Amino acid sequence: MKSIQFANGDQMPILGLGTWKSAPGKVYKAVKEALQLGYRHIDCAPIYGNEAEIGQALSDSFAEGVTTREQLWITSKLWNNSHAPENVQPAIEKSLADLQIDSLDLYLIHWPVAFRSEVLFHNSAKDLIGLNELPIATTWSAMENLVDKGLCNHIGVSNFSVPKLKELLGTANIKPEMNQIELHPYLQQPAMLEFCNSNSIHLTAYAPLGSSDRPAPLKSEDEPILLEDPTIIKMAANHAISPAQLLISWAIHRNSVVIPKSVNPDRLKQNLGSAAISLSQEDMEQIAELNRNRRYVSGDFWVVEGGPYSLANLWDE
Ligand code: A2P
Repeated sequence: MKSIQFANGDQMPILGLGTWKSAPGKVYKAVKEALQLGYRHIDCAPIYGNEAEIGQALSDSFAEGVTTREQLWITSKLWNNSHAPENVQPAIEKSLADLQIDSLDLYLIHWPVAFRSEVLFHNSAKDLIGLNELPIATTWSAMENLVDKGLCNHIGVSNFSVPKLKELLGTANIKPEMNQIELHPYLQQPAMLEFCNSNSIHLTAYAPLGSSDRPAPLKSEDEPILLEDPTIIKMAANHAISPAQLLISWAIHRNSVVIPKSVNPDRLKQNLGSAAISLSQEDMEQIAELNRNRRYVSGDFWVVEGGPYSLANLWDE
């Protein structure tokens, strides 16, 4: 499997298993199956509510000799209620305890959005803290301390715009090495790709299949279904692969790390097989035409009346 190389030589497998929406009760089997199939990269976050179950699957897989901790790449993320510097280390320690590991390969600030520490998910504006009050630079120096303490090897961000990356690059001692963002043919983000390429920041594509199992409040009625796009379906048929495999392969051809989620053994296998597919320049050009700046994860859930966040200041668009 192709991997992405970090400045210190560490290699991150370009295809990993996404675990957002992988329900407790299902994710244990999915992770065990994935590791058996050959996945060596798992993308996690405490807000997905399943890290303890993933940790059990990891621990059992290690005990059964399926793989070893050293062979795996494990990412997790700092939730919005832990941006205050004193909360950052306890947050990673909780993820490490749940995942039953000593350190993470990569730890990301999940959103450029801060909550009061007692809030898991906000109900109103009073639960939110603006970035002027709790700046990303402050959270970032606490993230840097985690690297110094050996709790994670690499740090990065998620859902950051180019202006937010630029601001962070201006203050960081350890540069962010990853931005995990929504990326697929309907949201190709060419300016982000170019900026990250020229600043040695890797990209991870989340929702690469269009994330159609999002909870209903995160969906809109009129949304286009990526896996049913006629161009994607036709091109996949021409290659004798599935639409999902085409979408995963497209991300890999752009050198983005990609983390399709599945809890189904056949689809896990199919998705892993995407790493071996070759697309032509012409295929890539045809897919480039499909861009329509369509976010499935719009971020509008952070926008509440009287609160500090708007779609304009979230995405800086
Ligand atoms: P399931 O977990 O039942 O396989 P995303 O990674 O963009 O968030 O998309 C996840 C959604 O795509 C889930 O509903 C998942 O369902 C589904 N999915 C995963 N792999 C495939 C596949 N190969 N073909 C079709 N749907 C898939």
